Amino acid sequence: MIKLKKLISEKIAEKIEQFGDSGLTSAAIYDMLEYPPDANMGDIALPCFKMSRALRRSPVQIATAIAEDFECEGVASVEALNGYFNIKISNEYLAGKILPEILEKKEKYGAPDLGKGKTVVIDYSSPNVAKPFHIGHLGTTVIGHAIKMLHEFAGYKCVGINHLGDWGTQFGKLIVAYKLWGNREEIEAGGIDKLVELYVRINNTIKGDEEKGIPAREDLAEESRAEFHKMEIGDAENIALWKWFVKISLDEYAKTYKQLDIEFDSYNGESFYTDKMPAQVELLREKGLMKLDDGASVVDLEPYGMPPCLILKRDGSTLYPTRDIAAAVYRKETYDFEKCIYVTSNQQILHFAQWFKVVELMGYDFYDKLVHVPYGTVSLNGEKLATRTGNVVLLKDLFAAAIEKAKGIMEEKNPELRGRDDIAEAVGVGAIVFYYLTNNRIKDINFNLEDALSFDGNTGPYVQYTYARTCSVLQKAGSARDGKVTVTCDEEAALLKTLSQYEEKVLSAIRDYEPSVVARFILDVAAAYNKFYHNCQILSAEDKDVRTTRIMLTEATKNVLGSAFSLICLKKTERI
Ligand code: ARG
Repeated sequence: MIKLKKLISEKIAEKIEQFGDSGLTSAAIYDMLEYPPDANMGDIALPCFKMSRALRRSPVQIATAIAEDFECEGVASVEALNGYFNIKISNEYLAGKILPEILEKKEKYGAPDLGKGKTVVIDYSSPNVAKPFHIGHLGTTVIGHAIKMLHEFAGYKCVGINHLGDWGTQFGKLIVAYKLWGNREEIEAGGIDKLVELYVRINNTIKGDEEKGIPAREDLAEESRAEFHKMEIGDAENIALWKWFVKISLDEYAKTYKQLDIEFDSYNGESFYTDKMPAQVELLREKGLMKLDDGASVVDLEPYGMPPCLILKRDGSTLYPTRDIAAAVYRKETYDFEKCIYVTSNQQILHFAQWFKVVELMGYDFYDKLVHVPYGTVSLNGEKLATRTGNVVLLKDLFAAAIEKAKGIMEEKNPELRGRDDIAEAVGVGAIVFYYLTNNRIKDINFNLEDALSFDGNTGPYVQYTYARTCSVLQKAGSARDGKVTVTCDEEAALLKTLSQYEEKVLSAIRDYEPSVVARFILDVAAAYNKFYHNCQILSAEDKDVRTTRIMLTEATKNVLGSAFSLICLKKTERI
């Protein structure tokens, strides 16, 4: 619809020239155009209130003047109503321009031309090795990947980095726990769960339990720090253990990523920056930015209303922000990014604000290309998944539960279905992803598997089912397309108008780092298609032109849905 809206804005700009030089460009008018919530008010509308002052006329006068003898390609009729200029798009335009364009461009339809020659780095998922990969990581994983896919769609070169939490005192703890209670065969067999068990156990042991009269074990905490220090100075035994822990964890994550069809371009985690930090620490010193604070080295951020950013601990070891600073410099040098995007929970807003500021103070001019994209917290309602690992729900357990439920529902609905296991996985995982992504990212979310998996609500299964429906119509239609394209009913027109908003939705999702815009667009398309499907005969339409048009509309819907699914980690299901 962008093209048509541009055309309309130019015509409107010409019209208002009669009021003298108002300084209102057609681009400014373009930005004022709206899609009215009620189709009775037209397909596109211009509210004239904001222009009132610049044109020194009332909104009603402006709307009336624009509507007089208004003519523009693609416009069927216009009206001026209560200060709004309302436009109806012609069916000829929908049939002659929009539909052919969707079919011609196929999966490229809706792709904005934004990113040619530019690189974007997306740092996402990034679980902490040997700590649980839990539902808190769902957001960074799927929002991050959607942001990557959106940028790729818009022509950017994208580098997806899994900034693994693979360095830090937790490994000292794990080594102590392993030496105390671990067993190699058991861990080989049990994988990451066993590591997490050890990690939870050592933490609980260190903490003790006052109520039960179990004393805290500060000595074990001390020992853990010593083991980590040994890692830092390259102790062979500890490094070997660490590598093993990382491998076990990565093998496990790989399964989850496969379920989501996610691949990373780099797994350079925190450990990768060990030898890259000293230069940055040196630069901080040279610039006089480092201060001692109770033995630790910090950058004072008081003038910016933030607590100090920690760079080195008292014992000289580095911290999370130190590694992020070194990583940003490395990425700029390696990828020369246009943007480097970090997707994490909103609990890290301060962390990013702090070290972004430090990068600026260090004199790096790319500081304003660093973007933090935070999201709200996730909880789970009514499911007993939070057990063996303390009070967290593991992402893989959530997926497994959803797949199991999806299987049950599908057995009931469609016992004949072939390839049910794969489809159940696509539907189960898709249900979670979609439920999650229909919400604004910053909102806190309470999961309910029952709701997420329902085939009736605005859910993943519902939109995947709609996709499968388009596939089945097309399969039955074969190659029968012997008529002319002609739009004859409201349902067809409404569907085309919805499909034609795709590029605008993609642009807005990219601008706001908000994949939910795409998820909600998918719902709009599904609703429009299903209404069309129920009210209009497709294959049984008698008129050849009508039948051809409706088959082509189905194909256009399949294209757009399929393309939008791939932007948000939703698998395309040809059958359900
Ligand atoms: N590993 C961190 C966590 O699980 C997230 C890392 C995000 N990326 C970064 N460059 N800090 O909380």
